[in-house]
Amino acid sequence: MSVTSLFFASLIAFAAAGPAFQNFVVQDSLSSVPQGFSKVGPAADSTTLNLRIALASSDFAGLEKALYDVSTPSSSNYGNHLSKDEVNAFLAPTADAASAVQAWLDSHGLTATKSSAAGDWLSLSVPVSKANELFNAKYENFEHVASGKTYARTLSYSLPSEVADHVAAVHPASTFNNPTSLKPVLSAPKTSSGISTDATPASCATTITPACLQSLYGIPTTAATESSNSIAVAGFIEQFANSADLKSFLTKFRTDVSSATTFKLQTLDGGSNSQTSSKAGVEANLDIQYTVGVATGVPVFFVSVGEDFEDGDLEGFLDIVNFLSDEDDVPQVMTTSYGENETDMSKALAFKLCEAYAAFGARGTSILFASGDGGVEGGQAQTCTKYQAAFPAGCPYLTAVGSVHGISPEIASTFSSGGFSNYWGVADYQSDAVAAFLKAQGTTTNKGLFNTTGRGYPDVSAQGENVQIVSSGSTGGVDGTSCSSPIFASVISLINDKLIAAGNPPLGFLNPWLYANADALNDVTTGSNPGCGAKGFTARAGWDPVTGLGTPNYPKLLAAAGL
Ligand SMILES: *[C@@H]1O[C@H](CO)[C@@H](O)[C@H](O)[C@H]1NC(C)=O
Ligand SMILES: *[C@@H]1O[C@H](CO)[C@@H](O)[C@H](O)[C@H]1NC(C)=O
Repeated sequence: MSVTSLFFASLIAFAAAGPAFQNFVVQDSLSSVPQGFSKVGPAADSTTLNLRIALASSDFAGLEKALYDVSTPSSSNYGNHLSKDEVNAFLAPTADAASAVQAWLDSHGLTATKSSAAGDWLSLSVPVSKANELFNAKYENFEHVASGKTYARTLSYSLPSEVADHVAAVHPASTFNNPTSLKPVLSAPKTSSGISTDATPASCATTITPACLQSLYGIPTTAATESSNSIAVAGFIEQFANSADLKSFLTKFRTDVSSATTFKLQTLDGGSNSQTSSKAGVEANLDIQYTVGVATGVPVFFVSVGEDFEDGDLEGFLDIVNFLSDEDDVPQVMTTSYGENETDMSKALAFKLCEAYAAFGARGTSILFASGDGGVEGGQAQTCTKYQAAFPAGCPYLTAVGSVHGISPEIASTFSSGGFSNYWGVADYQSDAVAAFLKAQGTTTNKGLFNTTGRGYPDVSAQGENVQIVSSGSTGGVDGTSCSSPIFASVISLINDKLIAAGNPPLGFLNPWLYANADALNDVTTGSNPGCGAKGFTARAGWDPVTGLGTPNYPKLLAAAGL
């Protein structure tokens, strides 16, 4: 066949297939307006939508394999974390996918920008009229009744057949995020008076301070030495970390360190960190005080994500990982105390975001999230008839942290969110631990209330009740898994400090190491997380979906890290 005939042959094939990008394949279609929202009318054609288009990664399976290979202690590649370029090669769309999507956007006269270094996320701003054409959709305005906020969404969207397999998710389209969902996983502070700053068992049983944690978990008070080590603390929804409050906190609770010890600030999406005392955020102050104040000497970065995007959750969570993973040196630990219901985000979007955590883990970052404060009701308390999962806790490539209280023994906090994901199946690293729990629980308890094949969470836990903070100048106690995540993160970062000082790589994605070293955690075997009108799960010997494997034992974890 000559070149000419090949040319004609393909032209004919093209013509026979009809006009390009017009053969739509439905991607998502909701039969009714999601609960909590009501339709208020058509979206104006000229309304601008800031679209995110997620492209399918060329080899996520390869990335997952590489992640486990570098994170599983028995692997010969343990600790050989991947470089930014190696990770991005897995995440990047195939050349075919990229060019098909490019051709589709070109056909509409549109240009997208890459919003992740790997190029698997694109962003572009289009008027509603254009989005309706692009996705054969009908964007309308929907009001989130409780907050009164209105969003343009479509109950159904489609993609042309040429790109349907290459696009993993589109947002905003048919995911109706609850705008109030990205709440700190935290209760309001209770004012405390006459708090003991000692680590006496009597006071630590009811009031948690850094000294209590040091005594309870064997956390060293001596300063870390490695300046290349760091913890990133994620901040959202204009929750500001206040330097004066940190200074008061250190003056009161860490008399052994300089009260001038502080944190560094990174901002994105128009984020800021107002130092006006009245604007201090309880969540941000807690997270900063229990990293700076517990991980003595470890550099802490407060990453304040601003509100320059449509809705808080997807974009906020996504932008922070895309931002940090674009750096050549990633923080060794990141802690986030925000979460929502798993059902608040479509499976496609949740999977794509979870892939970004896997990528970050493969680079050597330990990602910790508060598991949620709704017990078996999910991220926060809600009415339900079946147990609800929390997000991102259900993503298997991060470490979800639940809460306990009391000291001898430590007891599961009733609000500690735990259970089983409906999106992700049980992870290999936890399959034995989860099977042992299910066997011990028996087949009748909680029957029909949870997904028996889902990923179980939390993975671990730490103190989370009446944890003392200083906010807007006053000292008070707060409750929530929000307390537990920074505490556990601090323990990990102190171990990383020792590893780095000894010339070793940091711990990276923790779960395979944690489940292989369950003895290095204090098993919590009392308490439960009731909800949805039922008794919830019960803490038991071994892993359980209330307290995970248990709370940190620093000396044992250090030994498990080979030090
Ligand atoms: C979870 O969903 C319920 C019911 O829609 C809602 O009341 C609650 O605020 C949600 N919680 C979070 C954290 O999104
Ligand atoms: C239960 O979890 C699995 C993942 O293991 C998921 O594929 C399935 O859809 C879930 N079932 C329900 C009812 O959500």
